[in-house]
Amino acid sequence: MKVRDGTVKRSALTPFVIIAVAVAAVGGILFGYDTGVISGAILFITSEFALPPTLEEIATSSVLVGAILGAIAGGLLADRIGRRLSIIAASVVFLAGTGIVVGATDLSIFLVGRVLIGIAIGVASFVSPLYISEIAPPAFRGGMVSLNQLFITFGILISYGVDFLFSSSGDWRAMFALGAVPAAVLLIGMVLLPDSPRWLLSRQHMNRAIAVLEKARGTGDVFGELDDIKKAIGMQKGGNWSDLLASSIRMPLIVGLGLAVLQQLTGINTVIYYAPTIFQFSGLHSVGASIAATAGVGTVNVIATAVAVVLIDRVGRRPLLLVGVAGMVVSLAVLGAGFAFSGTVQGGSLLGLITAVSLMTYIASFAIGLGPVFWLLISEIYPLTVRGRAMGVTTIANWAANFLITVTFLTLVGAIGQAVVFWLYALVSIIAWFFVFRLVPETKGLTLEEIEEHFRAGRHPRELKGLP
Ligand code: BGC
Repeated sequence: MKVRDGTVKRSALTPFVIIAVAVAAVGGILFGYDTGVISGAILFITSEFALPPTLEEIATSSVLVGAILGAIAGGLLADRIGRRLSIIAASVVFLAGTGIVVGATDLSIFLVGRVLIGIAIGVASFVSPLYISEIAPPAFRGGMVSLNQLFITFGILISYGVDFLFSSSGDWRAMFALGAVPAAVLLIGMVLLPDSPRWLLSRQHMNRAIAVLEKARGTGDVFGELDDIKKAIGMQKGGNWSDLLASSIRMPLIVGLGLAVLQQLTGINTVIYYAPTIFQFSGLHSVGASIAATAGVGTVNVIATAVAVVLIDRVGRRPLLLVGVAGMVVSLAVLGAGFAFSGTVQGGSLLGLITAVSLMTYIASFAIGLGPVFWLLISEIYPLTVRGRAMGVTTIANWAANFLITVTFLTLVGAIGQAVVFWLYALVSIIAWFFVFRLVPETKGLTLEEIEEHFRAGRHPRELKGLP
């Protein structure tokens, strides 16, 4: 079924699809919660296990190492055992990891648990958007996949709140234990839901695929959509890693990998993970003020992402990216200038204000552009038969770049100062803007098969225009 206009698209949203999308998007909460929760917990872990700074860094970043491993494993699993079973496996590993962390009596046990949690997040971070993209009606696909990003931001915000709540008791085990709640919801939900119709078809489960499509579209008339998917499967060989080298996949991989790395090298997680530290650099020494400012950053992240969810199928992916990345360039340039010239104005209060405003505009700009659009585009631009593998490889690049930025931030600040570091991220953001301008396709309103056909024909990404 091709959805071409507003009337058809309204009727195409069924309760089944809404539930399936909402459940899969809970993977986003795991992602956000467990990458965010460590920032408050680490203080207490450090004192309980008497960790020197290097071990503190390892304890903090172990989840990112796990996520890289998870993206590798997920790439292997998602095409082979399916999207649904991959998410189920991730939820089980997540629950096991959480149990180990909560019961950890020393650092090595803690690290085992955190790496397991990371592995689960690495899988869920891309298989959730992948599953959603393959079940959502085309006209709603952007908003629905971006719901996953909205849940990531929500997870981060909840983790800040939970850290705050337990900070007086110092109960870091409770902070991690709460992560089990969304994991259980995801596990039970995915056990009850079917796999995506596209994966089912790619594995020749014809009758099940038809049944899921009929439920998802709320009509028995799904044969047009079915034919398109079958045609796409027939045109593309698949099943091997070497298929990722096919010329029709080269351009989508360049776009996906480029966005994966640029999403991180523009510095988002220095703000997400180190906001309190950045506020302290700017002279905001009171812990209360710094917590409030960090909560502000988290809230702006959620609100701006919600705006993106609403806009993404109306204005399209490219405009959001171009406006968002431009906003990041300006905010980072101003933030850097604040740090560079604060010595010449009086005192830290002006710098505090500049920091607060530019961090908010930076986060808002990321949240309407690179945040949701990256995860959305990589769920759209790869051909079905290698989609899991290609998304896995792209996700490895994203987590590896995340790790790189996170472990170098404080050292870089020490070596070249805050101003130059933020200007460096501004420079990368300028590169990102031109990358988007020249290479990123508009996929709004198109079926996944139409996008696939475009790249198979060897056409340039920018020639793909989306539906008006
Ligand atoms: C990024 C994460 C980041 C989050 C912040 C995601 O799209 O991949 O690295 O922490 O957005 O909202």
